Amino acid sequence: PASAARDADGELRIGGVGVQALRAVHGTPLYVVDEDEVRAHARRTLAAFTAAAASHGTRARVYYAGKAFLCTEVVRWVTAEGLAVDVCSGGELEVALAAGADPARIGFHGNNKSVAELERAVTAGVGTIIVDSLIEVERLAAVAARHDVVQPVLVRVNSGVHAETHDFLATAHEDQKFGFAMDDAPAVVARIRDLSALHLLGLHCHIGSQIFGAAGFAESAARLVDLHARLREDGELPLLNLGGGFGIAYTAADTPEPIEQLAAGIVDAVARECAVRGIPIPDLAFEPGRAIVGQAGVTLYEVGTVKPVHLDADRTRTYVSVDGGMSDNPRPALYGAQYSARIASRMADAEPALVRVVGKHCESGDIVVDHEYLPGDVTPGDLLAVPATGAYCFSLASSYNDLPRPAVVAVRAGQARVIVRGETIADILSRDVGVASEGTA
Ligand code: LLP
Repeated sequence: PASAARDADGELRIGGVGVQALRAVHGTPLYVVDEDEVRAHARRTLAAFTAAAASHGTRARVYYAGKAFLCTEVVRWVTAEGLAVDVCSGGELEVALAAGADPARIGFHGNNKSVAELERAVTAGVGTIIVDSLIEVERLAAVAARHDVVQPVLVRVNSGVHAETHDFLATAHEDQKFGFAMDDAPAVVARIRDLSALHLLGLHCHIGSQIFGAAGFAESAARLVDLHARLREDGELPLLNLGGGFGIAYTAADTPEPIEQLAAGIVDAVARECAVRGIPIPDLAFEPGRAIVGQAGVTLYEVGTVKPVHLDADRTRTYVSVDGGMSDNPRPALYGAQYSARIASRMADAEPALVRVVGKHCESGDIVVDHEYLPGDVTPGDLLAVPATGAYCFSLASSYNDLPRPAVVAVRAGQARVIVRGETIADILSRDVGVASEGTA
């Protein structure tokens, strides 16, 4: 986070809280999230899209994509900053509702929502359900009718623009599970318009995640506006939701466009295409997750072992093992994601040495940071900070190898407080019905 700074002794402070104190009170591994930074990203992102929309005479709503990092406290922060909430399962919906989020400002995604999930969403008054299949359209209409609700929906379409990490490539036939093909969308829209229990708001499209430039979004938006313009000939279509996917810097090699530039690039593209077709610009919506929380999070680990591994006659690699790994951050194993690390607990001015930071799991792919220069005197007991772990780490965590999931601590103005308690071995044992309970012979 921007608030991370070293004090005179070289110890890192995050949100004004020293990492030694965090370790002493909460242990490691530990997810640390800077509340002010989450709020600042939420405000900045909302301002960027609002300004871009206003410059073309329309409005923008920003949904926080909860999948990036969801707990009630984070929902409270982002909703207090004016964001709506995007959820993609019944569980995420319950967390958002438990946080007190306004149901009317919740969007509900998913390619296989159960009847029970749809029932809960409809009866809770969820503002938008994004439909993803014809079976779901019928299922949702039946649920809504049963509860005497007219449910607003968006139709998720697949623009055929498939975003790669740093680039995008257009594919005519998208072979993936989400949304309707552009060609299939008109029939779906017509069906929804026939169903009195559903109210069609418009189209939705999400092209991918960790995207650095506006070009892919703009291309996708242009295709969406084309479809939107055709569909609006047969009825109202007040909204266009262009999803999330705005990238962040994990390492110095990453150079995403600033959110203001992305927002302007995307909204300008929408406005241009609308002008070409002579239609008004619809209300817009966006769903950033990573861009809100990614850089606000840091994971603290304690170094346990340092071991040189001889690669050949003249090359060694130093393996630095920490007390977590792929259970608290599976992204390197899943996506080859790159992170950085630094010694957080003390002055770190020794000659740098190339190391690989690894976890304590029983897999060689259990890498935390593939290559990093750490001070050559890195030693057991040092605290390592791995920045930019706010998105898709806590939410993707597991208790693989029965490592309990770490706690989440929020820091702000020199204060730290637990916002999600850490899992314990007792939690893990408590679900195992074969564990002999006390007093059982
Ligand atoms: N909207 C929809 C419909 C989505 O599917 C997603 C992400 C988002 C919004 C938010 O995307 P964001 O702004 O956070 O990029 N586990 C992967 C990322 C998966 C993203 C899935 N959908 C990772 O760790 O990189």
